[in-house]
Amino acid sequence: MTQEEIKRLVGQAAADYINTEVPEDSIIGIGTGSTVNYFIDALTQSRARYRGAISSSAVTTRRLISHKFRVFELGDIESLPVYIDGADEINPHGAMIKGGGGALTREKIVAAEADRFVCIADASKLVQVLGKFPLPVEVIPMARVALARRITKFTIGTPVLRLMHNGKPFVTDNGNEILDIHGLTIDNPIVLERSLNQWPGIVTIGLFALLGANLCLLGTEQGVHRINYIKHVYSS
Ligand code: 5RP
Repeated sequence: MTQEEIKRLVGQAAADYINTEVPEDSIIGIGTGSTVNYFIDALTQSRARYRGAISSSAVTTRRLISHKFRVFELGDIESLPVYIDGADEINPHGAMIKGGGGALTREKIVAAEADRFVCIADASKLVQVLGKFPLPVEVIPMARVALARRITKFTIGTPVLRLMHNGKPFVTDNGNEILDIHGLTIDNPIVLERSLNQWPGIVTIGLFALLGANLCLLGTEQGVHRINYIKHVYSS
């Protein structure tokens, strides 16, 4: 199977999962990325089962609307039983690097409101130690140069401004920029997330360790495996 075929399989498995585990008429949180796109496609068949969705990005909102899902604002809802999203890396404890698609801030906001985070990923995303995938950090543009200097000074890693194909800085849905930190070996994701969260000018770290996955649906050549995580490993 190709990686795309495995992603499609995982998207279908996620739709099957919520169709059995999530009560009818729920609103569901939906992330961003190619795996999520397969999930949205698979969920379209059972769209009538749900009241609608909370979206984590403009691109996901467009896809949901084109598939005739009702998209709610976060402030309009009282409960969110589940948030489904992909990851760029996930470790054996359910801590993740996210934000390869640039939607990390809204993803973290929506994930924080959900009762359960279900990560959907192909097996290439499963790693022992996070950090080979550059860590996205969304920053206020005014602070970007100073933050890049500071990341270098504290030898956190090598910050690289994310650019678009036209050479201009990538701009997030929130009007900010992204520094991708290369060369990391993240032995303790909780400590790094907590520490970088304190730096003025940083909006969001693409580390989801304090708020890790509860479950991963991991796509492999042999099928989709369910990996459950014990949350107290990463809670304070
Ligand atoms: C977007 C994300 C995505 O979940 C992550 O990049 C994985 O994407 P894909 O499913 O396309 O591999 O964090 O900001």
